[in-house]
Amino acid sequence: MYCEDFVPEDEVLLRARGRAAELGCASISAGTGAALSAVAAALRARAVVEVGTGTGVGSLWLLRGMPTDGVLTTIDIEVEHQRAAKTAFAEAGIRSTRTRTIPGRASEVLPRLTDGAYDLVLVAADKPRYADHAEQALRLLRPGGVLAIDGALARGRVADPAVRDETTTIVRHVGRQLRDDERVVPAMLPVGDGLLLAVRR
Ligand SMILES: C[S@@+](CC[C@H](N)C(=O)[O-])C[C@H]1O[C@@H](n2cnc3c(N)ncnc32)[C@H](O)[C@@H]1O
Repeated sequence: MYCEDFVPEDEVLLRARGRAAELGCASISAGTGAALSAVAAALRARAVVEVGTGTGVGSLWLLRGMPTDGVLTTIDIEVEHQRAAKTAFAEAGIRSTRTRTIPGRASEVLPRLTDGAYDLVLVAADKPRYADHAEQALRLLRPGGVLAIDGALARGRVADPAVRDETTTIVRHVGRQLRDDERVVPAMLPVGDGLLLAVRR
């Protein structure tokens, strides 16, 4: 699709995507990556959190938008996925000081991160716990910081009220909660699988 390919992916990103396919791990779409990169650049985001490293596709897009002294903290329960992501970071020539890869469950790692210390938080893992992750992310963000939730349209299922399976219902509920939350300015971008942005007031 034109929007998804508007900012093309280079060889490093394509190889990271290939590793994801080999490991059976999903990646954010190129259109989602380009949107996140632009948001990171607009924020001059020096401190970013990613929930769900995967093989580093989202990480690479985020790092490209961040200033060169910015640090990405990225969390994943699968050590093998993070190992593949580190390969991608090395291929992209990213200094090791720019990434903090934390192995572990997001619900256990996020509470350990500092309040109000982050410019951008991407949630891209563990849909059943999206509500908890979103709440933790709002705690981590400084005013003007951005919470980004990938998969917010769940392949079109969220927009169809007839679809009521558990995961879709959770994702739909989180979207509506953020839409109505006085603490944020929300927007749903129709890139990839749906990218919900909520800017902390
Ligand atoms: C959709 S993939 C992430 C894609 C990645 N952001 C990218 O674009 O390349 C989801 C990742 O989240 C990890 N994951 C699943 N549940 C998790 C949890 N509770 N805490 C941390 N990571 C989790 C999986 O191992 C997987 O690597």
